[in-house]
Amino acid sequence: AFVVTENCIKCKFTDCVDVCPVDCFHQGPNFLVIDPDECIDCTLCEPECPANAIFAEDEVPEGQEQFIQLNAELSKLWPVITEVTKPLPDADDWNGKPGKLELLEK
Ligand code: SF4
Ligand code: F3S
Repeated sequence: AFVVTENCIKCKFTDCVDVCPVDCFHQGPNFLVIDPDECIDCTLCEPECPANAIFAEDEVPEGQEQFIQLNAELSKLWPVITEVTKPLPDADDWNGKPGKLELLEK
């Protein structure tokens, strides 16, 4: 499955949800996740993310492996999102900032 990683936090651009053919993105307060049981590995979402936050499971950057589990867990708790919405305020400022995992709201 594909995995949403740290740089989505506090950005949530949502371009990714527009292209997913199986509607497997789920939305929390300041982060999106992919349901690994629904993702069909079509690869369409990866280039759409302005924050480059989406990776194939076996290409998740070093140090971000915990996001594989977070996507699996949180996708069971959060509602599906299928429509593009406005990014979070200051998304452009947060894009690329390190250490955002501790800011993840569940
Ligand atoms: Fe959806 Fe395809 Fe991305 Fe999986 S790889 S989340 S199926 S757009
Ligand atoms: Fe997040 Fe990128 Fe989608 S910032 S909401 S994974 S377009």
